[in-house]
Amino acid sequence: MTDSKQKSAPKSGFSRRAFLRGSGAVAAATALQTQAAVAVDDQGPNVVRGETSLTLNVNGQDVNVSCEPRTTLLDVLRYHLDLTGAKPVSLDGSSGASTVLIDGKPVMASTTLAMTAVGKEIKTVESLGGEQPDEVVKAFVEHDAQQCGFCTPGFVVAVRAFLDKNPDATEAEVRAGLNGNICRCGTYANIVEAALAVVKGG
Ligand code: FES
Repeated sequence: MTDSKQKSAPKSGFSRRAFLRGSGAVAAATALQTQAAVAVDDQGPNVVRGETSLTLNVNGQDVNVSCEPRTTLLDVLRYHLDLTGAKPVSLDGSSGASTVLIDGKPVMASTTLAMTAVGKEIKTVESLGGEQPDEVVKAFVEHDAQQCGFCTPGFVVAVRAFLDKNPDATEAEVRAGLNGNICRCGTYANIVEAALAVVKGG
């Protein structure tokens, strides 16, 4: 009997008892690891609460603002810095009316947390105005590219950003490049005309 048991034992020397012993150790280790993870989770994430002080670079100037971490860049621009060009038309950013430039890229200020823009260069439509307005601003005026004007600041910034990257854009490219902005008044023909006028040099 003893001989037959020895003959049926696996040649590898890996017995059922050893397997059970081993899997028990693995289960115990997993349980310990899970407890450790729960202990870390119990401490909670590193949450910033209440008002916090931020320094933002807006239109070439460093400005300090105090706001909650959940505050959008659009709210900081409009209600802390009185820069009301970017518009709160669609808080999900689908209208493009809150378009600003961050490090040269067009983004929706309505869907960007202000604190994520710290250390970056923010440019609003106001930076394209002044005594020497940008060519895009002048073209919008000359080609009557606005009606109610709510979408206009976002379009001006979007056109500027697009033409900076595509100075020789065709009409089809301009139309495709501006498809993130909506004009409910339907002034698209004039907006495209204005953008193409800048491409042609005036
Ligand atoms: S001019 Fe009115 S939404 Fe564009």
